[in-house]
Amino acid sequence: MPQIITIAHQKGGVGKSTLSFNLAHVFKNGLKVGLCDTDLQGSLSNLQLEVDGIEILPIPNEISTLKLFDHEIIIIDTPPYLSNKLSDLFAISNFILIPTKAGFLDYMAIKSTIVLLKESMQKSPTVKAGIVFNMIKQQATIKAEVEKLLEDSAIDIMQTFITDRVSYTRSVITGGILKSTDEKAKKEIISLADEILNRIGI
Ligand SMILES: Nc1ncnc2c1ncn2[C@@H]1O[C@H](COP(=O)(O)OP(=O)(O)OP(=O)(O)O)[C@@H](O)[C@H]1O
Ligand SMILES: [Mg+2]
Repeated sequence: MPQIITIAHQKGGVGKSTLSFNLAHVFKNGLKVGLCDTDLQGSLSNLQLEVDGIEILPIPNEISTLKLFDHEIIIIDTPPYLSNKLSDLFAISNFILIPTKAGFLDYMAIKSTIVLLKESMQKSPTVKAGIVFNMIKQQATIKAEVEKLLEDSAIDIMQTFITDRVSYTRSVITGGILKSTDEKAKKEIISLADEILNRIGI
């Protein structure tokens, strides 16, 4: 049965698709990975990833059938809004990753995703979750401040954070960050992938 990792945040542009894509590229080194873009306007489903060892999975009519696939990991990218479909996705997930930028408005915007997440965690207590800071500017102190605010949410914050780097923007057209020469970015994504695998026990 695949471990399902859902990447969600109702806000647009926080890096859900970029992280989905790059994490899939790290996981595929050793694991059979599927990527399912549930954002109908999404761009990931237009990419020809099969050739790269990552299978693009169509959105099944019954989302829970993803659990029957023979992949070891399925990453689900989600659209920038909350819907009942998101609760259904949370219900079949083993890990829910919520990317956020580090700003006060970002802190305000994350709250409704956290409410939905907590409802799901009550229904299925084994599901794990983490907030990952993304697009962090070098030497910015605001991350620590937002981190403090998020402590009250009782959702774990990933130790790895992802910095703001042009290489991430490029990565989607160049076959993933692992193929770039940006060693710092590679290290970040590998570290995030390892942290997720540790949390789900792979
Ligand atoms: N760590 C990063 N450093 C620099 N740019 C980034 C980083 N992560 C994402 N981006 C850029 O930010 C923009 C938004 O990223 P992305 O499309 O992944 O967000 P999203 O959450 O999937 O958005 P949407 O909800 O609209 O689908 C893109 O231009 C992407 O290249
Ligand atoms: Mg997206």
